[in-house]
Amino acid sequence: MRTAVREEPSLRSSQRVASPRRYLMCPPTHFQVTYSINPWMDPAKPVDLRLALTQWEDLRDRYLALGHTVELLDPEPDLPDMVFAANGATVVDGRVLIARFAHPERTAEAAAHLAWFRAHGYTEIREPVHVNEAEGDFAVTSSYLLAGRGFRSSPLSHSEAQEFFGRPVIGLDLVDPRYYHLDTALCVLDDAADEIMYYPGAFSPGSRAVLARLFPDALIAGAEDAAEFGLNAVSDGRNVMLPQTATGLFEPLRERGFEPVPMDLGELLKGGGSVKCCTQELRP
Ligand code: ARG
Repeated sequence: MRTAVREEPSLRSSQRVASPRRYLMCPPTHFQVTYSINPWMDPAKPVDLRLALTQWEDLRDRYLALGHTVELLDPEPDLPDMVFAANGATVVDGRVLIARFAHPERTAEAAAHLAWFRAHGYTEIREPVHVNEAEGDFAVTSSYLLAGRGFRSSPLSHSEAQEFFGRPVIGLDLVDPRYYHLDTALCVLDDAADEIMYYPGAFSPGSRAVLARLFPDALIAGAEDAAEFGLNAVSDGRNVMLPQTATGLFEPLRERGFEPVPMDLGELLKGGGSVKCCTQELRP
């Protein structure tokens, strides 16, 4: 049992340091909502493609301005959800677990990710046996690989990931269809520690108890910010890029020493995705 000295938030704030990240993104060149595989997607609602592109470019430029590296995946015409690059693969310690999508509409995206990793010098690549939607459902903290299930990734993918990465997997049951991927309800704020924020309402009672036990100091998000996709955020250890409408999270993040960086990805939300969905992290 570890005994920890609980630090004052103000004390912690001065110690937050961003670490340089490498992200893989895919421009929304062919983004559309032509099918519906989550409750946010309404094919009857028009998408402003120019606006989607501008919003995506703002996110990419923000990463670059913060000193991060952004790699690009070539968008393919018949894969309108490809902009949600987080779903294509999970990379930890340079090992790559490719996705296997739950819905046929997205199946072919996995091959595009596989080709990218092969072309970029990765050698430890696993093509999975079980359905997993990559960082949509896997989140990396210093101690665990948190893994969502219930809507997309198969529970069997959890043991597959544990075996491949050699990290303890904590399975979490998602119960609200609006939060169909783990990254719509939980965000790792500091991956050098075990610091997260999450929306309890997205999880089963048992999973909520597990989260409370493992992360007693987590930032708890309310229903309103969750509904603004506020948990679909990316943190570099200091700066937290998150949807600009999730205003209720700004102050709690600041109190913990993080810098909220509000982003507008409103057009991409029509596909059921935001900041994190557009960003796959390539962990060295
Ligand atoms: N339309 C996409 C889907 O339903 C959105 C994926 C969002 N990505 C994510 N990482 N949550 O599959």
